[in-house]
Amino acid sequence: MPVLLEEVVRFLQPQAGGHYIDGTLGEGGHTEAILECSAPDGRVLGIDLDPEALDRVAQRLSRYVKSGRLLLAQGNFADLERIAAAQAFGPVQGILLDLGFSSLQLSNPRRGLSFTVEGPLDMRLDPEQPLSAADLVNRADEQELADIFYRYGEERYARQIARRIGREREQAPITTTRRLAEIVTAAIAAARQGPPRDGIHPATRVFMALRIAVNRELENLEQALPQMLNLLSRGVPGERGPAGRMAVIAFHSLEDRIVKDFMKREATDCLCPPRTPVCVCGHRARLRLLTPKPVQPTAEEVRANPRSRSARLRVAERLADSPA
Ligand SMILES: C[S@@+](CC[C@H](N)C(=O)[O-])C[C@H]1O[C@@H](n2cnc3c(N)ncnc32)[C@H](O)[C@@H]1O
Repeated sequence: MPVLLEEVVRFLQPQAGGHYIDGTLGEGGHTEAILECSAPDGRVLGIDLDPEALDRVAQRLSRYVKSGRLLLAQGNFADLERIAAAQAFGPVQGILLDLGFSSLQLSNPRRGLSFTVEGPLDMRLDPEQPLSAADLVNRADEQELADIFYRYGEERYARQIARRIGREREQAPITTTRRLAEIVTAAIAAARQGPPRDGIHPATRVFMALRIAVNRELENLEQALPQMLNLLSRGVPGERGPAGRMAVIAFHSLEDRIVKDFMKREATDCLCPPRTPVCVCGHRARLRLLTPKPVQPTAEEVRANPRSRSARLRVAERLADSPA
């Protein structure tokens, strides 16, 4: 079920003739809604790292592929401008990133993304990528693992977990989700004084941290944001349609911070330190914020789709008089 679907459509305002990019195609839920709202001739370029997701959408939305309204590309949204240029796609009226993983990916045992299903400790969205979670868990030194668990998972027992992983992998390499989950659970039980802080499974934070590290999620997002902005139409004569809008749904506070800081900075004219008498940086705003506060799912949506609970949507619009 696509997260914050109504809100995304309300902000992107898809319309006939418009061009849109969905940088995280997934199961194609948001893309389908954009195509429906931009009938009869709006077009979407759908990108995903995961070739299996692209195959499923190519079948499910084959009518749009056949009519040329839906273009599909396998790739990383960190290469957005290159992918769009290869398809001669842009400037665009809207770009969406709905970060993270789809429910199908999370529940697929072959992907090893979840501690609730036994599978190989893989976690790669892009099967061509060389580094898997097992490589990281078995090869990284304990300090590096502890940093990953602490930084990306905010795991308070990061050091104790990394130390136990170090001991366990000397016995035999850690290659499955279940074994890692057991090691993490045992490390936390030994380190914790008193009952658990919250109701979540003890391995939740470590698995989340590993997924972020293996797929370089924060780095990809940082690279994608300026490219999204560059691809947005300014809505000036000679460019198709109204000014373009960029929308990002984040599920993790570190991702949301990156999006918030980027949009705020690009919505600001001068970035000189406070009390600088005359601007020397020459920075000019290129965006207008449409969501001063992030948009969150309604209680009804969270009830119907608990995965949406931590979603935060931020949207900004390209300024017509902004530098190209
Ligand atoms: C939450 S799902 C998107 C769901 C989609 N909006 C829908 O309605 O079905 C996120 C998708 O983004 C993809 N993805 C994650 N990181 C990516 C990246 N750096 N580049 C391209 N796709 C990525 C994942 O493979 C996954 O299919």
